[in-house]
Amino acid sequence: MHLLITAGGTREYIDPVRFITNASSGRMGYALARAAVKAGHKVTLINASDLQPPVGVDFVGVDSAAEMFKAVKKHFPRCDCLIMAAAVADYTPLKQAKSKIKKTNKPLTIKLKPTTDILKWAGRHKKKNQVVVGFALEDKAVRTRAEKKLKEKNLDMIIANTPAAIGADKSTVQIKVTGGKWLKIPQAGKTTIAQKIISLVEGL
Ligand code: CTP
Repeated sequence: MHLLITAGGTREYIDPVRFITNASSGRMGYALARAAVKAGHKVTLINASDLQPPVGVDFVGVDSAAEMFKAVKKHFPRCDCLIMAAAVADYTPLKQAKSKIKKTNKPLTIKLKPTTDILKWAGRHKKKNQVVVGFALEDKAVRTRAEKKLKEKNLDMIIANTPAAIGADKSTVQIKVTGGKWLKIPQAGKTTIAQKIISLVEGL
């Protein structure tokens, strides 16, 4: 299979030196890329983190949600499966200042506009033989909210986790394949979780 995997938190620039981002390390996406390579798959990794490219993948570096969307649109038609492990910013500055914003003694307001939901776009545009997998980061009503994303984004599988998973070595995730039952993986490392996800994708 050819897997398209995204990793890391996007950077939304306010001016040439400042950006809005999130706490994603990129390690889940990288673990997925490594597990997929190890299982003999071709991998294209679209990365927004600071991590070095892993061995054996086609590597695409991006910064912003808009750049990630452009890269996904380019590579999606040629892949069998997209796994959106990246923490894509939901909002980006309405305007990006061309030069560094100077400080004043007044409050500063930065207006944000919504970004495109890349996963939703992929769910809408997937062909019959393509699989689309998403993540859901939820602090409450985890299964209910993740299931809503599974349906609304027309996904084949969703991996639900909580904010405790960010940057942690071990975390609990819950996985649901469309039409299947919830599967709980308690306190596991990212490599174990990644191997399980790849084997579930292989079965779809
Ligand atoms: N995602 C995406 N494009 C965005 C935002 C999110 O593709 N602009 C993807 C993420 O990669 C993840 C999934 O959508 O696989 C769910 O992300 P999450 O942050 O849990 O939820 P949102 O859909 O952004 O909704 P909310 O923040 O309201 O919970």
